Amino acid sequence: MCGIVGYIGNGNVYKILINGLKRLEYRGYDSAGMALVAPDGKLSVYKAKGKVSNLEDYCSDKSLDACAGIAHTRWATHGEPSDNNAHPHYSEDGRLALVHNGTIENYKLLRDALQQHGCHFKTETDTEVLVQLIEYIRTTNACSLVDAVREALNQVIGAYAIAVVERDNPDTIIAARKSSPLVVGIGNDEMFLGSDGTPFVEYTDKVVYVNDNEIAVIRRGEPLKIITLDNREAKVDVKKLALSIAQLEKGGYPHFMLKEIFEQPSTLTDCIRGRVVDNGYSVRLNGVFDHQDKFLNCNRMIIVACGTSWHASLLGKQLIQDMCGIPVEVEYASEFRYSNPVITPRDIVIAVSQSGETADTLAAIQIARQKGAFVYGISNVVGASIPRETHSGTYIHVGPEIGVASTKAFTGQVTVFTLLALSIAQLKGSMDQETISKVAGYLLRIPELVKETLRLDDKIRQLSLIYTYARNFLYLGRGYSYPVALEGALKLKEISYIHAEGYPAAEMKHGPIALIDSEMPTVIIAPKDHLYEKIVSNVQQVKSRGGSIIAIVTKGDTVIRDLADHVLEVPDVPECLTPLITSIPLQLLSYYIAINKGKNVDMPRNLAKSVTVE
Ligand code: F6R
Repeated sequence: MCGIVGYIGNGNVYKILINGLKRLEYRGYDSAGMALVAPDGKLSVYKAKGKVSNLEDYCSDKSLDACAGIAHTRWATHGEPSDNNAHPHYSEDGRLALVHNGTIENYKLLRDALQQHGCHFKTETDTEVLVQLIEYIRTTNACSLVDAVREALNQVIGAYAIAVVERDNPDTIIAARKSSPLVVGIGNDEMFLGSDGTPFVEYTDKVVYVNDNEIAVIRRGEPLKIITLDNREAKVDVKKLALSIAQLEKGGYPHFMLKEIFEQPSTLTDCIRGRVVDNGYSVRLNGVFDHQDKFLNCNRMIIVACGTSWHASLLGKQLIQDMCGIPVEVEYASEFRYSNPVITPRDIVIAVSQSGETADTLAAIQIARQKGAFVYGISNVVGASIPRETHSGTYIHVGPEIGVASTKAFTGQVTVFTLLALSIAQLKGSMDQETISKVAGYLLRIPELVKETLRLDDKIRQLSLIYTYARNFLYLGRGYSYPVALEGALKLKEISYIHAEGYPAAEMKHGPIALIDSEMPTVIIAPKDHLYEKIVSNVQQVKSRGGSIIAIVTKGDTVIRDLADHVLEVPDVPECLTPLITSIPLQLLSYYIAINKGKNVDMPRNLAKSVTVE
């Protein structure tokens, strides 16, 4: 979703901003723009619909001399994607330019009031209201830019990360946040702004995560200053950015998605490292051990998440219920937040989010906290909002996920849920130590077994050619394989734009079976588990209606092999670990089908990596 970049210093402002925007492309956007402030006080705004490369083309004959600047990738919410609606937006007298992520909920009210004071608007965006309001306050109160921003933000209801520059003030950038991410990078005699650390990772690893209701005052030659909306000076807490430039490159793969699929043996090693201890005898998650009383006295868990993270959460529910005997509910964060949830202080709410910035999941956390629950986070991006808003939690440590379709984050989340369930089971004594050690021992072998599964790559590439032009797909699974079916279907639809539905296999006969014919391929996830015999009969039901079947089975399977059109054999693992293996061929299948169709797998249409608005 929208991304912000900013820079003040002696470097090439234009180049730093353009490269920063390119780094933020993975978040999803449909237009881009920048504002450059020249040393002589000239403020120029350049914008273009479409890719950052369009903005580069547009800027090729423009004056790019600057000492500070802000830039933006926009994912349209108020008003269509267009040059006009792209950010930055000027204030009426052209003195200020502003970029904004998020949504201003009371923009209509503010706009009407400003129009009564004679302001004219060029766009329908909520952002233009904000910049006009700042200018209005700056002029009528004859106050400083930072005071005008502070005063304006006190009138605003909604979510925002903003950055503002001023024509006659080339040595200052003012930035602020509430519910949308914003990070300041501190270099030598230069400072950077970003929605995350990716735009400036090669320049500095010193970062300050701006908190909600804080304003960053970035001035050339001065240390960073942070003030709150009620005008108190806040602590500038400098952290080390846990990111490297190599992690942001494709490393010889044609796409980030393929790189991230193939990285899983090493990302899962990183995820497990230091968490299975005593030579595989026990499991230790500090986030659990530091809050043992909460986990021992918990009556119920509620997991909140969106999209792929929600699918991983369904697996988390099964793992925790099976291993710990604690009742677990899984909710879409977007529904949970408006459902007037009944939560008691003995409930634990677990929030799962790769980006750590998903607006609905953040809002769900806030509600859970208000109602007295202990909130545990499972995130990937270190320092993001969700890990900062939760009482405790665990990072999945799979490194930056750039491909919009989540792959390595899914397996990382499922791995953390496995570790979480084992840790709690160990604390509660709900599972015998021998079984815990056996599962933990297998978990240590998962990276190597994922590597073995990735050898199916060539076979899946060939297989994808047969199914590239199917118009619909059905994905079926039971038990631990049901969330895998949902995830497989989501992967296919989001990058190939083929309609795909994931279903519990036994539910098929209550409706979707009507769709089955020779044109409708069914992907069945059928490892050898306690529901295997049941799913064999589901395979027969599809077969007898002329449907073609791709089955993911355990090595050595003979029964489904005879029924299915194609089988993909995966290594045998304990039932609770099968999703970590069976999800891999589904990732590859969707990748190759999308590639065959010529789709942009890393940046599928309309999607955003970090969904920071409702
Ligand atoms: C699917 C995908 C999305 C995200 C969802 C939640 O491949 O990436 O469905 O899973 O937007 O995002 P996070 O996990 O960042 O909260």
